[in-house]
Amino acid sequence: MNSNADLLARRRAAIPRGVSVATPVFADRAENAEIWDVEGKRYIDFAGGIGVLNTGHRHPKIMKAVEAQLARFTHTAFQVMAYEPYVELAERLNALAPFKPPAKTIFFTTGAEATENAVKIARAATGRSAVIAFTGGFHGRTLLTMAMTGKVLPYKKLFAPLPPEIYHVPFPIAHYGTSVEDSLKAINFLFKADVEPGRVAAIIIEPVQGEGGFHAAPKELMQALRRICDENGILLIVDEVQSGFARTGKLFAVEHMGVEPDLVTMAKSLAGGFPLSGVTGRADVMDAAEPGGLGGTYAGSPVACAAALAVLDVIEEEKLLERSLAMGEWMQKRLAEIAARNDTLPMAGIRGLGGMVAFDLVTSRGSRDPDGQATMLVTSRALDEGLLLLSCGIYGESIRILVPLTIDDALLHEGLGKLEKALTRSP
Ligand SMILES: Cc1ncc(COP(=O)(O)O)c(C=O)c1O
Repeated sequence: MNSNADLLARRRAAIPRGVSVATPVFADRAENAEIWDVEGKRYIDFAGGIGVLNTGHRHPKIMKAVEAQLARFTHTAFQVMAYEPYVELAERLNALAPFKPPAKTIFFTTGAEATENAVKIARAATGRSAVIAFTGGFHGRTLLTMAMTGKVLPYKKLFAPLPPEIYHVPFPIAHYGTSVEDSLKAINFLFKADVEPGRVAAIIIEPVQGEGGFHAAPKELMQALRRICDENGILLIVDEVQSGFARTGKLFAVEHMGVEPDLVTMAKSLAGGFPLSGVTGRADVMDAAEPGGLGGTYAGSPVACAAALAVLDVIEEEKLLERSLAMGEWMQKRLAEIAARNDTLPMAGIRGLGGMVAFDLVTSRGSRDPDGQATMLVTSRALDEGLLLLSCGIYGESIRILVPLTIDDALLHEGLGKLEKALTRSP
């Protein structure tokens, strides 16, 4: 049997440190919301492969659809010989788009590819170059998406020069002293100081920041962005790579906000564990790029498209939108109970949109001073307890919960019990 320690030593020797890992254990097998390491230890999975597994590990319906596709063909390159699963998935997503039809959809492989291509499409459609993004936002690790990502460490350090024409404005987080008004003022300053609105192709925003700390964009901000875009011919891109696919109780988080974007990027839970990403946008905008300007050898893999079709069925049949809302409410209630105990580490800012739930660790009760060290302690204790847990946030101060929405109540309860233990002060 392989041991975690042996594999860790081999990993360190063979793989660069630039790809970090949250845990020193190695996966052996997984089922729905449980995962076992190579030494047979079981973990409840509150990380969901960073939001990829809203439908759980190896959902039987998704596995069946994938197996059926594997038996037919695994790759042609869509540009060489197209196939129905891609077309059918595009049709279904077009019908579900969070804006007025007609829509069109194109597929890629990673979240970064989707966000990068959304910008290419916006540039082609507007004939403009500049992009406005937000501090704390995360859009990927390719050159363009890294430039749009609003966090220097660890994403940008050592990788300059960054592509030009990307501008950042502050994302509003009330307890860090930034309001919606501050964000809008910053856009106004930007238009005066750095770039005229007529040169801006797109504003890109995560409706709920993922890596940035599970902060939902206030409705007033989203509505003001829509207005600024409409007044200036700018396209609004919502990056739903992490917040999409039922996580927040809607297929797309922007549906909570009463705003229609022009382009939506998606990935992660779109294909239930298979690599697939996509951009759905207004048909006129999506058709702006020249034939051959968009795509990729593996983009829209038939196996991943078959999986994604099954994901859409599972979301509907298992009522995962409703489940996300109910789970979110329950998790927030349990977290509030844990926070109220006087023998737990100081917690603050319990929040969530549906099942996209997080809270912060702070230096003392009642304070909002972030405590990233405490967060690291909690995630490592949780691992010892048999719970996979991820942090996030500008200061690494937040614990985020991305548990599969298919988890049953008993296992969710057990997982929250492990989290409670990890949060309890040592005697
Ligand atoms: C909102 C958002 N956009 C883009 C990405 C990049 O996705 P990928 O890592 O698949 O390139 C992520 C990944 O976490 C994300 O959360």
